[in-house]
Amino acid sequence: MKSEGKKSVAQAAAPNTLSLKKLREVAKQCKACPLWKTGTQTVFGEGLRTARVMLVGEQPGNDEDLAGKPFVGPAGKLLDRALFEAGIDRSQVYITNAVKHFKWEAKGKRRIHKKPNSREIAACRPWLEAELDILKPDLLICLGATAAQSLLGREFKVTQHRGELIDLPLARHVMATVHPSSILRAPDEETRRIEMERFIADLRTAAQMM
Ligand code: URA
Repeated sequence: MKSEGKKSVAQAAAPNTLSLKKLREVAKQCKACPLWKTGTQTVFGEGLRTARVMLVGEQPGNDEDLAGKPFVGPAGKLLDRALFEAGIDRSQVYITNAVKHFKWEAKGKRRIHKKPNSREIAACRPWLEAELDILKPDLLICLGATAAQSLLGREFKVTQHRGELIDLPLARHVMATVHPSSILRAPDEETRRIEMERFIADLRTAAQMM
């Protein structure tokens, strides 16, 4: 871990940085956890500084790691469709991840997603806090368990509380729902269709708060 005094790069830079552009620049150097060694690049959040809605995913996948942008792969395409169906304009949303480097393991020639652990999630949290500080969104949506763990605490169960409005000072309205990848992993087409409907319904509930 590269540190400035006792602070990580993220901790040192984040609270003092008011510009998203500058934050993104500094985050390129982040070595707060070992994932920088195997990820191609830091995949920082994307969207307008003035966005009122902030979505938080888990971590970049293979496509995002290569492109340097969040949610551009298959999960991103599904998310785009769900946002559209829910009446949320993606171009008006700020999208980021709880962990900003791709964690993976090799399977043959493929790089397979590996879930980030608590230390990696905690190491990346200052970036997320800084993004929240700058944007001060009206609506914050956690997509899946990793984002929920980072922002809502380890005890929070997405399966039990998805689609509910949570009373926390992180934003005026806070909600968690499933991660779009979980819909892609559904065992059959009918389950996928049902899960997609539930996901859209959660996003619609959130959109109604705006
Ligand atoms: N899954 C995520 O959680 N984030 C991305 O950016 C892509 C896939």
